[in-house]
Amino acid sequence: MQRIFSGIQPSGNLHLGNYLGAIQNWLTLQNEYDSFFCVVDLHAITVPQDPQKLREKVLEVAKIYLAAGIDPNKSTIFIQSHVKEHAELCWILNTIARLPELEKMTQFKDKSQKQEGGSVGVGLFDYPVLMAADILLYNANLVPVGEDQLQHIELTKTLARRFNQKFGEVFTIPEAHFTKEGMRVMGLDDPTKKMSKSAASEYNYIALTDSPATIREKIKKAVTDSGSKVKAGADKPALTNLLTIYSLLSGKKINQLEDEYADKGYGDFKKDLAEVVVDFIDGFQKKFNSLDNNEVLKILDQGAQKAGEIAGKKMQEVKLKVGLS
Ligand code: TYM
Repeated sequence: MQRIFSGIQPSGNLHLGNYLGAIQNWLTLQNEYDSFFCVVDLHAITVPQDPQKLREKVLEVAKIYLAAGIDPNKSTIFIQSHVKEHAELCWILNTIARLPELEKMTQFKDKSQKQEGGSVGVGLFDYPVLMAADILLYNANLVPVGEDQLQHIELTKTLARRFNQKFGEVFTIPEAHFTKEGMRVMGLDDPTKKMSKSAASEYNYIALTDSPATIREKIKKAVTDSGSKVKAGADKPALTNLLTIYSLLSGKKINQLEDEYADKGYGDFKKDLAEVVVDFIDGFQKKFNSLDNNEVLKILDQGAQKAGEIAGKKMQEVKLKVGLS
């Protein structure tokens, strides 16, 4: 059986972009692949985090996976820092990663600009190498993510090939997996930038924890394009984004929605879209609130044990090749 690996950082507010870009794809893939879904807390601390909030967020993200429909009987859910091999393999990969490869990472450039001058940590720079370690430890064949992660996965492939060439075949070369529609959900306040956890305005995103009133208000305020036709296209980035969200949550094709709204304006369309989103988030939140924290912690423990066995074996193989055992 082929394997998938993916993860989300326990930082900021998880939003519809995270759900439609990543988690929604995991739901179908978990039926066909041996699946590993990780809460990547070591990645989160590459920018400053409040320790108590981080602790809460880690549990929250695990609960989000479960509430969204990740089934612990099919998939392995665990916390990155509970499997020590992630940090260990990251160090070994650091010795073959090259400075210019990391310097050109666009996420590093974006994120480091947001840190105060002089305070950009080495961890932030090294972030993609840790991500490579996550994926390669498990011999993952596919990595389901949004578009913003594709450059990191290319680097993962480069490092895997370089290691295999230098020391012998150890790592599977993974491929990114994404859907054309969900790979880049854009901000509601600016459809030229992606929906983002760290956006300055909360009108940028719909958080999975937003109340129905907030969701209705955010969709009402969402930017639209000039004209009045509910249509997708290069000249209509805002409507394309709203139609994409509607389509992915309702299962209706975009051209079907365009037909449905052919005689209606933006106002009617937005009202209906808000109800589609409220419906989805309401169902999701009911499941989230019904989860028992102790049960979730048990699932995470079992997950870490299973992941740890695989990661431990892979690390032994790596150490043998490198000459560390
Ligand atoms: P993170 O936590 O920033 O985002 C989690 C997932 O959500 C996707 N995503 C989006 N997809 C569509 N539209 C958007 N606006 C949008 N915003 C975010 C991301 O592409 C991602 O799939 N580095 C990763 C976490 C990670 C990881 C890994 C992923 C660490 N190790 C190993 C895969 C495999 C990240 O920061 O995701």
